Amino acid sequence: MKDLYKDKCKSIYRLRPSFGHRNNAITICMSLVLAAVFVSILMFLMVVCSLNLHMFSGQPILKFQTKKIHDFPLECLAWNQTLSCPKNYPTTHKNLDRSLANTCPDYFRWIHEDLRHWRETGITRDMVEVAKRSAHFRLIILDGKLYVEKFRKSIQTRDLFTLWGFQQLLRLYPGMIPDLELMFDCDDRPVFNIKQYFKRRPNPGPPPLFKYCSDPWSLDIVSPDWSFWGWAETNQKPWEMTLKDIKQGNKRVKWKDRLPFAYWRGNPTVSPLRADLIKCNVTNTHNVDWGTHLFIQDWINESGHGYKNSNIEDQCTYRYKIYIEGWSWSVSEKYILACDSPTLYITPHYYTFFARGMAPLEHFWPIRVTNMCRSLKFAVEWGNNHTSKAQEIGEASSKFIQEDMKMDYIYDYMLHLLTEYAKLLKFKPTLPLNAIELCSESMACFADGKWRKFMEDSLVRYPANTIPCTMPPPYDPSTIKAIIDNKTRAIKQVEMWEDEYWRNQNLKHD
Ligand SMILES: *[C@@H]1O[C@H](CO)[C@@H](O)[C@H](O)[C@H]1NC(C)=O
Ligand SMILES: *[C@@H]1O[C@H](CO)[C@@H](O)[C@H](O)[C@H]1NC(C)=O
Ligand SMILES: *[C@@H]1O[C@H](CO)[C@@H](O)[C@H](O)[C@H]1NC(C)=O
Ligand SMILES: *[C@@H]1O[C@H](CO)[C@@H](O)[C@H](O)[C@H]1NC(C)=O
Ligand SMILES: *[C@@H]1O[C@H](CO)[C@@H](O)[C@H](O)[C@H]1NC(C)=O
Repeated sequence: MKDLYKDKCKSIYRLRPSFGHRNNAITICMSLVLAAVFVSILMFLMVVCSLNLHMFSGQPILKFQTKKIHDFPLECLAWNQTLSCPKNYPTTHKNLDRSLANTCPDYFRWIHEDLRHWRETGITRDMVEVAKRSAHFRLIILDGKLYVEKFRKSIQTRDLFTLWGFQQLLRLYPGMIPDLELMFDCDDRPVFNIKQYFKRRPNPGPPPLFKYCSDPWSLDIVSPDWSFWGWAETNQKPWEMTLKDIKQGNKRVKWKDRLPFAYWRGNPTVSPLRADLIKCNVTNTHNVDWGTHLFIQDWINESGHGYKNSNIEDQCTYRYKIYIEGWSWSVSEKYILACDSPTLYITPHYYTFFARGMAPLEHFWPIRVTNMCRSLKFAVEWGNNHTSKAQEIGEASSKFIQEDMKMDYIYDYMLHLLTEYAKLLKFKPTLPLNAIELCSESMACFADGKWRKFMEDSLVRYPANTIPCTMPPPYDPSTIKAIIDNKTRAIKQVEMWEDEYWRNQNLKHD
């Protein structure tokens, strides 16, 4: 299933209206044959179902009795027969446990910031249609159901897994997601520049476009990327499972016993900055050891060798991990930060939805873009000299990733983002003619291999039984300024230490 809208799928949608009545003898005869086939299929299904019940009676029924949770697995058998989405999934929330109410992590507050451009004007249909220029699909939610209008093909299956994520959100919080229409772009870099839409007269109205990353000069609204539900092309499991694997992996080698170098593995050809980084490798420079071990990830070779070298949980054997952007932000960010080893974070240009919740020296060690090798060497040496502080930074980012970014919060972030976005809409969402309804079955039942497995593994099998976290209020402008000032100060501090260190080194060698 390389594409969500494979021809198979399309033709099925086109075929559906053609089940009409015709009353000549041949069709009556055909109908009788069809009826006979139908009855035998039905009998076959009943047998299979009873078998299934026998096979699985142990687990789900036990769960049902003890936890009183009704489980809704994928209904591919039914989907294959009827090609219609199941109607038995709950559409409202009942008996939500309110005792565990808590406030969402601070990075949720940036949702207000991302939507600030529309706070005065609201979002009009015209604005949404301008965003279409860059979108891969229009996502429509009406009465708790998900529809999609597709415009163009995305890289790999980013669109499929992104839509899958929204579909799971609807399963987790049935009846809680408001009606809306939004444009989603699955490419890497932000598209709409703020200046272009605010400095120009007459003001054309800023287009709201959902993306995986943005930068401070763009309007684009950040949303979780596809990999939270799995990245089949690189064998990256759904986030919930990855988090568990990394937690286990972290226990294998204690921080002090890890190799006292900085590690990176990736594709250096996607940006000049990465090409620069590779120059810092131990083998690439004469006489200088920059304290880094860098490896080129060849995804094509990896896929031929069962991804042996790309297991995230096996990569936590170095004391320091390097994060560097690629063509834009890199999906590896969250995996690298989860290792219990301090992340040497090469000053980024882009941000993801969670990155703004972290601070230099608290969650990561900032690395300059210019003179990267010197900056890395200093960081590694400083960490090896100040082991308890280094460990503290590594643990803080792991804690942030494991706790503030657990899958429950990813869904809560999406819920609050969509809720706040929908509040701004100035028009009534409607269904375009060529939109199709999506349900988990229509996405997963045609998929195979890793695509199918990752969808089954990330399927939300029943509605949440607790309320989502409470959305924190917007930051006031002075607090935002203080946050940015604090980050700048921490970065300046590191740069000062670093400059002083290199001044002393040069003195020694003169
Ligand atoms: C549904 O049909 C597809 C192909 O038509 C098949 O690959 C798949 O195994 C079927 N699923 C079930 C549960 O029968
Ligand atoms: C970096 O150095 C290590 C250790 O010598 C080596 O195994 C690796 O292949 C080098 N990486 C690159 C990209 O040259
Ligand atoms: C391909 O991967 C295998 C196993 O990970 C490794 O032994 C081999 O050296 C790699 N080949 C190339 C050309 O990178
Ligand atoms: C680490 O400690 C050594 C020995 O005390 C010292 O020479 C070196 O400058 C220190 N490096 C850093 C970055 O603190
Ligand atoms: C900025 O840093 C100061 C001192 O470290 C701290 O007291 C303050 O709470 C920080 N402000 C913000 C908004 O993080």
